[in-house]
Amino acid sequence: MIVVLTGAGVSAESGLATFRGPGGLWEGHRVEDVCTPAALARTPELVHRFYDERRAGLDRVEPNAAHLALARLERARPGAVTLVTQNVDDLHARAGSRPIAMHGQLRSALCARCGERRPWHGPLPPASRCPDCDAPALRPDIVFFGEMPLHMDSIEAALADCDLFVSIGTSGNVYPAAGFVRMARATGADTLELNLEPSEGTDLFDQHRHGPASVLVPAWINEVLGT
Ligand code: OAD
Repeated sequence: MIVVLTGAGVSAESGLATFRGPGGLWEGHRVEDVCTPAALARTPELVHRFYDERRAGLDRVEPNAAHLALARLERARPGAVTLVTQNVDDLHARAGSRPIAMHGQLRSALCARCGERRPWHGPLPPASRCPDCDAPALRPDIVFFGEMPLHMDSIEAALADCDLFVSIGTSGNVYPAAGFVRMARATGADTLELNLEPSEGTDLFDQHRHGPASVLVPAWINEVLGT
């Protein structure tokens, strides 16, 4: 089993900003102002508008060579690749992958009352009503800091069964994802980092390749598939 973890760097060449850009701001905002339960409670208009803008921005970008190559790997090795992404964009899905989206998705709305999720396109104003329970409680389906990432059981099961773990385009700052390399090592897997620069946890990887994902990822996948 190959487990691939992706982060914002895999979508950077599609034109989406990474989280820890210049000055540590995400699209001009501090993470505490747009990505915490406290921010949602305090300034729902700001938080909803921020994710509305990010959701609308998805219409202006396309998957790049790295997303497409990962989808090719999954097609070539059905059932033997688990793709986990921290990204909330939909570029893996549009390239043909079915990633485990551990930090949620921009094109989904979550009811804070009943917990139902539904695909969402267009703006999501604060206090939108849930079609299931009628509570005015729909919010962006994004895992905020302090909230539990999604699908951890499936991810941990895949890591316990993997013989190769590959981390692509992530700074290794945010847990639990930053700890996956340790879990993979504990199962005896080989570990490979593909990133523009050494990540926070770079020393934990057996191999590193540094450069743009659109170049490194297709090259690595050609090696794996012998193409
Ligand atoms: P970061 O912005 O922290 O890191 C992006 C990484 O990608 C950096 O190490 C860059 O060097 C690298 N990078 C940039 N351009 C690249 C390229 N063209 N090719 C390859 N690598 C490139 O983003 P994440 O690690 O994904 O959480 O951030 C993790 C989480 O923190 C996010 O999922 C988000 C954020 O807060 C939530 O939204 C819950």
